[in-house]
Amino acid sequence: MPDDGLQPQQVVVLDYGGQYSQLIARRVRECGVFSTLLPYHAGPEEVARRRPLGLILSGGPASVYESGAPELDPKLLELGIPVLGICYGMQLLAAELGGTVESAEVGEYGRSQLTVQDRGRLLAGTPSEQACWMSHRDTVFKAPPGFKELASSTASPVAAIEADDRQIYGIQFHPEVVHTPYGQEILKNFLIDICGADGNWSARSVIEEQTEKIRRQVGDGHAICALSGGVDSSVAAVLVHRAIGDQLTCVFVDHGLMRKNEADQVVSAFRDHFHVPLVVVGAEDRYLQKLKGVIDPEQKRKLIGNEFIRIFEEEAEKLEDVRFLVQGTLYSDVIESGGGTGAATIKSHHNVGGLPEDLEFELVEPLRALFKDEVRAVGAELGLPERMVWRQPFPGPGLGIRIVGGEITKDKLDVLREADAILQDEIRKAGLYRELWQSFCVMPDIRAVGVQGDSRTYGHVIAIRAVTSDDAMTADWARLPYDLLEQIASRMINEIRPVGRVVLDITSKPPGTIEWE
Ligand code: XMP
Repeated sequence: MPDDGLQPQQVVVLDYGGQYSQLIARRVRECGVFSTLLPYHAGPEEVARRRPLGLILSGGPASVYESGAPELDPKLLELGIPVLGICYGMQLLAAELGGTVESAEVGEYGRSQLTVQDRGRLLAGTPSEQACWMSHRDTVFKAPPGFKELASSTASPVAAIEADDRQIYGIQFHPEVVHTPYGQEILKNFLIDICGADGNWSARSVIEEQTEKIRRQVGDGHAICALSGGVDSSVAAVLVHRAIGDQLTCVFVDHGLMRKNEADQVVSAFRDHFHVPLVVVGAEDRYLQKLKGVIDPEQKRKLIGNEFIRIFEEEAEKLEDVRFLVQGTLYSDVIESGGGTGAATIKSHHNVGGLPEDLEFELVEPLRALFKDEVRAVGAELGLPERMVWRQPFPGPGLGIRIVGGEITKDKLDVLREADAILQDEIRKAGLYRELWQSFCVMPDIRAVGVQGDSRTYGHVIAIRAVTSDDAMTADWARLPYDLLEQIASRMINEIRPVGRVVLDITSKPPGTIEWE
């Protein structure tokens, strides 16, 4: 995939602000067709430049008749490619082409029943009665002239339309959500039958394309990659290594704030298994020295981040002639930073690997067009260990931001590491690891009195934090089974002498954050 998103077979999804727009783009890819998500105002030229096989107009919160509502540029209908409008997208088509869209007396939210009168091409192969998921108030009451009305639903007189001769299609319901059981069928009808896509896009094809592309970009130059142990940088590194072999050097800075055995796992995967040239910088002492007496969270973050940059630069200077920097930037970062074509924005807050922009490297970003689950699929296909592919997110500053309210010391880190290892072990054994967005331990700087045997103890307090989330923007505390919690707590207290008490964090986000600082 070239950086400008040009791809031999792709479909463009125009985002009208709907909550499911990214999901539409992902579902299209699950049908084996690459998709690009563009803001609705991208304009017909920007769409045409990508030479897509088809165009999808997403849902959105506006009403087509509201002033200031996102509009449909009629030139989008003259590109000579099939167009599918979903929800607001369908209403835009209907309003533009002479149908009737009005606000209904009752909205239609959630599960609804679809009755198909005429399958047409879009609904081919799906039953005449089927469930679907709706989320709208405005409704199409009459299809535009020349359009067939394919279906109606509980509260939508016209829930699907098509004008096959003009290659324009619309559905009021959301095919992208799991509550529309035939949604993928309908999307496939559009993508494969109507747009003529071959449906061959996959993790394997991404690897082939990227390998080619990386070779073209790097030539016989040298590249460097900062490994964090996380899935994004790991997959990016292995992919680039597959393409250019030993022209890539990875740098792993062990800041001593990693979890138990994590540094060893990175070294064994990269050096021993993949044979990637790897520089491991053991910087625990350096970090502990720097962090002495530091308690303020922001100061800690800054310090840990800056030290990382300094070490990385030192290592880069030792290597000769490095012109390229490999980064595990994902498509969600590209979308968040507002564009698919502009220069890469390096997220610095959320990545200790976040390097300053004035580093004089050309970026190699092989995951720039991929969503997280696709990165995992690519990682699995490349043979990365399951533990790495499915690793929960871990913040760049590591355990440094999980010792809260007090100074970071080696002893505290060791206690926290042991507690964390027990938590991860039990969560994995219970089969819950992948279900949780994150699960970890926090050590507040307090002690609690206890009694063990016949003696009074005064031990560390460990807090268990486990959350479910889709994107870390919001999160709920995970309802871990009581028996599991008991097992975790008793192991921590029995196996780690300095731990005297275990507590559970039951705060959701908002109002809390996932981390404690
Ligand atoms: P919060 O605590 O803001 O965290 O709810 C949201 C997500 O971001 C991660 N996080 C960080 N990641 N550097 C990172 O690389 C940081 O300084 C940092 N702070 C929070 C956190 O683990 C969660 O996944």
